Amino acid sequence: MKHFLTLKDFSKNEILEIIDLAKKLKAETNAKIFKDYLPNQTLGMIFAKSSTRTRVSFETGIYQLGGVGLFLSSNDIQLGRGEPIKDTSRVISRMVDMIMIRNDSQSELEEFSKYSKVPVINALTDKYHPMQLLADYLTICEAGLDKNLIAAYVGDGNNMTHSWLMLAAKLGFELRVATPIGYEVDNEILNEAKEIATQNGGKIIITNDPKEAVKNATVVTTDTWVSMGQEDEKEIRIKAFQGYMVDDSMMNTAQNDAIFLHCLPAYRGYEVSEEVFESHSDTIFNEAENRLHVQKAVMVWLDSHRD
Ligand code: CP
Ligand code: NVA
Repeated sequence: MKHFLTLKDFSKNEILEIIDLAKKLKAETNAKIFKDYLPNQTLGMIFAKSSTRTRVSFETGIYQLGGVGLFLSSNDIQLGRGEPIKDTSRVISRMVDMIMIRNDSQSELEEFSKYSKVPVINALTDKYHPMQLLADYLTICEAGLDKNLIAAYVGDGNNMTHSWLMLAAKLGFELRVATPIGYEVDNEILNEAKEIATQNGGKIIITNDPKEAVKNATVVTTDTWVSMGQEDEKEIRIKAFQGYMVDDSMMNTAQNDAIFLHCLPAYRGYEVSEEVFESHSDTIFNEAENRLHVQKAVMVWLDSHRD
């Protein structure tokens, strides 16, 4: 049985297989063909943090596959009152067929998965957000930019950045990451990604200069400067990130047909200008929709890889 905790655990072929499945499921959904790939299955959906896209896409996704989603806010279950994660896992995984979790800590997610009898999916932790990167890559493929891909990430070295590092490492494309001093990516993850990238022909460039990162890029992306749980640091972060907003002058240095991606929610006037956001909104909202299709693919894929 496989869990989906990070892209690190998947080979290039497996990632591309999931992307191909997502393309097929998207075409079926668009044609209003809904097949019961997961009949009568229940997806437990544990949320310790807010969500719009992840909740709606997983709940709709499992329903479209013939199953049902069970929304479990950690405030409403005993987990929020201190029931150990390993007990929560052993209880819930005896009753449902698959579980997705959004929580603070990657190590708690790993602990949960160790005790689970069913596949567990990472729906965002402090370290990674792999479902978002699958949606981003599907969007890149649909824009015809998956060949000779040069991606530039400008902003905070956070869970999104770490997942970009793993995607670039596994698929072997060029990724430039520009963060302000003091907000760099996790060193351990960077070193792992660099090692994997060497095996797959990928190239990872780390800089503190957004211009250097974006020049001639084919995909430009960013994320909020203030992730969930960092609200107390908002003022100091906004000061530290001055000069890192993706605006027209920055986008203009990318290749002519470059796209701009954002996992959302977006904060205009901070990590992205209103103009850049709105002029790329078709791509950004396609990217958001693609969460539905890739997550359906992940659920079907994990179901077919049970023992
Ligand atoms: N991008 C993303 O994961 O959005 P939500 O926080 O709304 O789920
Ligand atoms: N880095 C952001 C991503 C939100 C989807 C956060 O963790 O809040």
